[in-house]
This record gives sequence, structure tokens and C-alpha cells, in this order.
Amino acid sequence: MKNVLFVASECVPFIKTGGLADVIGSLPKYIDKKKYDVRVILPKYLCLPEKYSSQMKYVTHYYTDFCWRNQYVGILEMEYEGIHFYFIDSEFYFGGPWPYHNMYEDIEKFAFFSRQVLSCLPLIGFRPDIIHCHDWQSGLVPVYLNDSFQGDMFFMGIKTIMTIHNLKFQGTWDVSTIKNMTGLSDYYFTPDKLECYGNGNLLKGGLVYADAITTVSETYAQEIQQPFFGEGLDGLMRAKAGQLRGILNGIDYKIYDPETDPALTRKYNTTTAIEGKRANKIALQKELHLKEDGDVFMIGIISRLTSQKGLDLIRHVIDEILTDDVQLVVLGTGEKQYEDLFNWHASQKPDRVSSNIYYSEELSHRIYAACDLFLMPSLFEPCGLSQLMSLRYGTLPLVRETGGLKDTVTDFQNGSNTGNGFSFANYNAHEMLFRLQFAKNLYYRHREQFNEMVIRAMECDYSWDASAKKYEELYASLTPEEKPKAKKKASEKK
Ligand code: GLC
Repeated sequence: MKNVLFVASECVPFIKTGGLADVIGSLPKYIDKKKYDVRVILPKYLCLPEKYSSQMKYVTHYYTDFCWRNQYVGILEMEYEGIHFYFIDSEFYFGGPWPYHNMYEDIEKFAFFSRQVLSCLPLIGFRPDIIHCHDWQSGLVPVYLNDSFQGDMFFMGIKTIMTIHNLKFQGTWDVSTIKNMTGLSDYYFTPDKLECYGNGNLLKGGLVYADAITTVSETYAQEIQQPFFGEGLDGLMRAKAGQLRGILNGIDYKIYDPETDPALTRKYNTTTAIEGKRANKIALQKELHLKEDGDVFMIGIISRLTSQKGLDLIRHVIDEILTDDVQLVVLGTGEKQYEDLFNWHASQKPDRVSSNIYYSEELSHRIYAACDLFLMPSLFEPCGLSQLMSLRYGTLPLVRETGGLKDTVTDFQNGSNTGNGFSFANYNAHEMLFRLQFAKNLYYRHREQFNEMVIRAMECDYSWDASAKKYEELYASLTPEEKPKAKKKASEKK
């Protein structure tokens, strides 16, 4: 049995701002329990829902010097759905209404977190063979392990993995501030370590010191070796290409299951999908005060409303998208310019456009069930989870061919009647619009072909099963079994 510790800044169901939380909350459940004891360590944010924090049990506490202050550190734990979670408690760092604040404060907060992840290990009775770090917030774990813990017998031989969920976020600030906050010496702030274009960079530290690097799709693993997607680290990614691999994310097929989903008005499977989706469409129209019409072509967008998600393309051609025979449902929050865009169109066409500027897990499930097309034309997309959710619910994704979108959605081919969605190559609003009009035409004029594709989409398997095996292979390659030493034969003994 090998021990693995996940280190992350968010995790479903405790705290979520993006797809990272879904991955941390589901992947550990799918790793073979006979071979690996996977546990997860998170900050105990003050904003965690009380229904979870009230279940946590005290493990231990200590005081530590960090960033010129003496700090209390508490360790709590709880079991949730068969997974053991640890929480690091510090009201000084993890107070506040939201996990993230501004980068300046966040860097100190997550440097503290990363250091305490290591400091607490000898006290909690769990020695990981592998520490699996996720995104920049845990980037200093491999660095601190190298810097201050390696001399200690307890830590010797612990391996680290750095998984990139989004290379855009790196945790950078000027070198002297980061040096001061982290307590790391000058030695670390050279271009082959944490220094990056004059700044200090926490993710880069993790990438340099980790024993293996992964990212969340094979295409993204290739893309980040190019300047356009590399966010300044493409050179490092090329240099590390031998240690870098892409492992596609999955989704939790028990939670995202139209056959059992309690949020839906009508449950359905591949045999009942077409009537089932129609019933869910009418129910959603009722709920959102849209015109009730089971036959109208309904487009869904569920997304963080940021430029990464290709919303500039949508804005550019939104009038052409919103023809009389289309309904649009939007769910998510983000940049004001995009929130305003959808709110404006909803105010102009209230019976056809519904703009929901908040996030609701339940409503998201009902949108996945009700829509015909899911629009996700991202500029870049490390993996993307919502296209996987929409496939599971038989809503055909329209995506740009980048990152995980390219690896999971295959464009409809007319002659052979294959594919599970629609895609286009260039970041160009009209290319997207033409594919959208093609999809709409297929829906209105060749419904049989469209419906066959709905079933094909639902039959795709993007559960965690295959990907969890790939992580297990990676864990095994980092922790080879020691061969038992051959006993000396009696004749060899002197
Ligand atoms: C980030 C990426 C997204 C990915 C998710 C989980 O949110 O932007 O593409 O699916 O992390 O890995």
C-alpha cells in the first residue's frame, strides 16, 4: 500500500470556484483503494459551509514562525464519502469571505499553506510516498521539501507531482517581496528556479522541483510547449517535456447521471433521451419564464464569464446567433462586460434569452438536460469539464479545437454520420457562427441525424475510470517496489 497526499486550494463539496474543485473532489474516489491510500489536504477557510466545518475533528496544533510572525496552526480532519481530508486552520490567513483575494495576499497565504502541509506531516500519522500538488497555490511544496525538509529522515524519498490545471495562473510577484514572504534564500531566485522575467513565480518553483509534471489533457500538454499557450513558461515546458504528460480529466458519473439526477424534472437514459430532454426543456422554459416550446433550438452556456472562454466570439455575432428560432440560457458569473452583454439581450428578448448571473449546481444540471447545443468556444481550455457534462446529458457541444475540447469532442461528419458534437479550428467568430448555423439546420431539417448524435454523445465514456488508471501508473513509476535483497549463500559467508 502506498500513500498519496493531494494538496489543493479548493475541493467539492467544501469550496469551489472552478473546475479544479471538481477534479480534487472526484479523482481520489476513483484511485484503486487496494493499492493507494489517497488523502487530501486543504486550507480551512472561514467561509467553508458550517455543515462541513462542524463535522471536522481536531487532530493537533502548533505554533510556527512564518513571514516575521508567530502563527497558530491547527490541523483538523474528517471523512467524506470514503476519503480522508485534512484541513489547515489559520484564521489569520484563511479568514475572509472567499478563498482568494488579491495576488499579493494570496501569495503569502498559499506559501504559508504549502509550508504547513509539510510541517504538519510528522504530527498527523500519515507519511505520503507521493505528494500530488495542484496548481500554483501548492507550487512551493516541492521547493520547501527540497529546501528545508530533505535532511529529515521522515521526509527522505518523498516524491512530488505537479499538476497544471491552468498555466495562466502562476502566482507571481516581485522577487524581493516573494523572498521576504517565503523565507527562501537568494539561491532560489535565478532563472533556472523561481525567477521568471524579473519576478518570483511559485508555479515555476513547483515545476522545477517536482519529480513529475502532468496537465489535464494531451493536447494541452503539447500546446503549453508553444509560446501562444505557454504563458511565458513554454521554454521550461519544452525542457521538461520528458517529465510532462497529459492525463484527461473525467467527471463523476454517479453525480452527473441523467438517469438518477434528482435535479431533473424528467429522468432519462439513452432509450428515453429524446422525450426526456424535451420534457426537461419545457420545464426549464417554465422555470426561467421563456416561451414554452418543446421544439425550439435551445443553446446553453454555463461558464465562468471570462475571456478564456471565448466570449468575445459570442459577443461579436450575438445578433446573428439570436434569431427568432433560437433560445439561449446562460449561467455563471465573471467579468462585468460579459454579464452586461447577456443581461442586455435578456432584457431585449425576455421570452428567448435567460441570463442567470450567479452559480447554482442544480440549475446547471437542468440546463445540461434541457439544451440541444452547449456553446464553449474557448480561446484555450486545459481540459474543460462542462463539455463532458453536456455530453453525458446528450447536449451536443460546439467547441473550438483546443486543449481538452479537441481531445473530447469530434466534429459531426455528414457522410459517415459520426461525431459527438461540432467544432471549429480558428479563433474566429464567423467560423463559430457557421458551425452553429449548421448545427441548427441539422436540428430543424434532419432531426433524425441530430437525435442519433444525441445518443452517441451520451454513450461516450468520460468517467474517471481510464484516467485514474493513468495516475496509478504514474504513482507506480515514481515509487518502484524495492526488490528484496538476495540472501547470501552460506558458502559465500566468510
Ligand atoms: C481549470 C481549467 C479547465 C480544467 C479544470 C480542471 O479550471 O481552466 O480547463 O478542466 O481546471 O482541471
